[in-house]
Amino acid sequence: MASQVAEGLPTEGLRQEHRQIERVLMVMGRLVGRAERGQGFEAAALRKCVDFLRLYADACHHTNEEQILLPLLDKRGIRADHPAVAGIVREHVEGRKQVTAMRASLAAAARGDEAARRRFCEAARHYLALLRQHINKEDHVLFALADQALTARDQAEIQAQLQATYSRRFEGRTVASLSAVADDLANAWIGKQLRRRLGILPTATRATRSSGTRARRPRAAT
Ligand SMILES: [Fe+2]
Ligand SMILES: [Fe+2]
Repeated sequence: MASQVAEGLPTEGLRQEHRQIERVLMVMGRLVGRAERGQGFEAAALRKCVDFLRLYADACHHTNEEQILLPLLDKRGIRADHPAVAGIVREHVEGRKQVTAMRASLAAAARGDEAARRRFCEAARHYLALLRQHINKEDHVLFALADQALTARDQAEIQAQLQATYSRRFEGRTVASLSAVADDLANAWIGKQLRRRLGILPTATRATRSSGTRARRPRAAT
């Protein structure tokens, strides 16, 4: 789970954070598809997605990359103008803009305002495309480069700093509670068979969860 730092590659913890984020991107993609097809606007679940993306993907994960990984890469000679690094922070800023746009239209969209629903879906589609290519680029280019360039001491530094991040709160929310939200969204909106096929497993132990956080939906999509 991403609230514990993994052993292995220097970027292992950040890669695990990507897997958390991807689950919520998949859920949001499904919910936006339903809204676009006129099958209903699932405001409560979409609000959970947006809050997760704002607090976990941006405030936690993107900050970890900008304040932990990039400074260490800079020390190893992989600087802001390196092709693998260029654009990373700009894409974080662009993602933040789209999350702000989703938040701005969510309340009216929840009340049934069709124009607000369209604005929400447009921002969500933009965000989904951006984050998917961003994560893919980081996994296969930036992190691959980092795993070669960083030393054992750098790796220990990353692990210590990630652990410190995981003990913080983001607007009062712990990383464990945000992971539990991702679990609940995946359980409610991604069918069991698909979760198994994609290797999407629960990441938060029951002990870290409050009993009231489970999303309620009668039937999971397959
Ligand atoms: Fe990033
Ligand atoms: Fe990332």
